[in-house]
Amino acid sequence: MLKWLVANWKMNGSLELVKDYENNLKNHSNLIVAPPFIYINKFSSTKTAAQNVHFQPNGAYTGEVSATQIKDIGVKFCIVGHSERRIYSLETNEIVKEKALRCIENSILPIICIGETQADYENKNTLNVLEKQLESCLPENGEFWIAYEPIWAIGTGLVPKLKEIEAIHEFIKEKTNKTILYGGSVNAENAEEILSIEKVDGVLVGGASLKIDAMKKMLNATAH
Ligand code: PGA
Repeated sequence: MLKWLVANWKMNGSLELVKDYENNLKNHSNLIVAPPFIYINKFSSTKTAAQNVHFQPNGAYTGEVSATQIKDIGVKFCIVGHSERRIYSLETNEIVKEKALRCIENSILPIICIGETQADYENKNTLNVLEKQLESCLPENGEFWIAYEPIWAIGTGLVPKLKEIEAIHEFIKEKTNKTILYGGSVNAENAEEILSIEKVDGVLVGGASLKIDAMKKMLNATAH
């Protein structure tokens, strides 16, 4: 079985990187790339995702992009509630849920991000925090995926113990029975062991997705 690899470029990348992806990472039906909006339509042979969407259907929101517009250009996936948006753009669980609903209304699959802070982790509060996020962010109906991304693991090189990832994915799976990705410092070296956890259905990769060699290795690790 092939597990998913979602490549989240964040505010990185260039036309050059689009070309590198197109030339080197073709024919991976389990690869979804989330570049900045302006590059999405430059991909011809790779599945794409938006990194964000506005929670309103349309209107006077300068600089924002709506779910109908994402649908309009044929994009089928959208990351919502990434911790960087929660932190820098003050997105609440309620806003994240609204965004997920706009996606579902437009047949876009939202990838809803949840995760605990370092303090939550150290205080052994992870499951409580995740439970609250699940209760407040998840739509009652419709298809969606969940990305478990411990905030302290994003871009830090720190990763929870495999046993911890396993237990948390089991916890989320029991509650939702959805596709669940793990994200946070996944790279060419650790992708294999993370993806070998049964209830990890794929990975959401930031920094390491900007390097073609690392992408090739991580894609090799997606076969299980
Ligand atoms: P990272 O980011 O792989 O650079 O830790 C993951 C993410 O934020 O989705």
